[in-house]
Amino acid sequence: MKNINLTSLKAMKAAGEKFAVLTAYDASFARLAELAGIEVVLVGDSLGNVVLGYDSTVPVTMDDMCHHTQAVARGNSKSLIIADFPFMAYASELQALDNAAALMQAGAHMVKLEGGAWLEETVLLLAERGIPVCAHLGLTPQSVHKLGGYRVQGKDDAAATQILGDAVLLQEAGADLLVLECVPTPLATQISQTLDIPVIGIGAGPGTDGQVLVLYDILGLSPRQPRFSKNFLAETGSIQGAMEAFATAVRAGSFPEA
Ligand code: KIV
Repeated sequence: MKNINLTSLKAMKAAGEKFAVLTAYDASFARLAELAGIEVVLVGDSLGNVVLGYDSTVPVTMDDMCHHTQAVARGNSKSLIIADFPFMAYASELQALDNAAALMQAGAHMVKLEGGAWLEETVLLLAERGIPVCAHLGLTPQSVHKLGGYRVQGKDDAAATQILGDAVLLQEAGADLLVLECVPTPLATQISQTLDIPVIGIGAGPGTDGQVLVLYDILGLSPRQPRFSKNFLAETGSIQGAMEAFATAVRAGSFPEA
């Protein structure tokens, strides 16, 4: 695999080529992701659930994120590496700037934050200072207690219009990628077609430009496998094989099914 950057992902979107994103939290899995040709590795704050044993992402700290981002960056030199801002690490614009600097210095190529229009100024500030930003809309797990659980978002017209509006606004503010989590397929498809930046879906149907899954889900390690995920290890028998099968299915458009 050649080195992946934002330009390559934008070219893939323009060419209608889908790309694969997996989470990773350590050097060994990050290395396998590179060998499997995974275009983007996300050091997700899902590490709180799948690695650290918390029941949400809320307890994850900046120290946790920097520690795991450093490990991933040591193991993978080709994929684009995105690091999640943890809970409350971007509550103010200046806090976001300081913490983005720490994540980038830990080895991330881009930072990801959860939320809509309230993040406009933060995204502007980071983008102006040369920090690539991935926005995250739909189900935003750091707000699980406000949302009342892990539920599909954007189901009624008003909520769908709000998410579409937020997506356009954040792109205009300078976001370079967007993750859409657990929204209905027609909404995710519409947003992907409306935006110029690549859109990555999770539980959002087959119409997005890229697909992301939590690594431990595709390996069947999670005690509660989300309905939208799939155990690729079961059909391949090796971890690198599972990653390759996921990437092949994404590129062929056979995962996820409608
Ligand atoms: O933390 C994470 O793994 C994520 C993905 C679910 C998109 O944000």
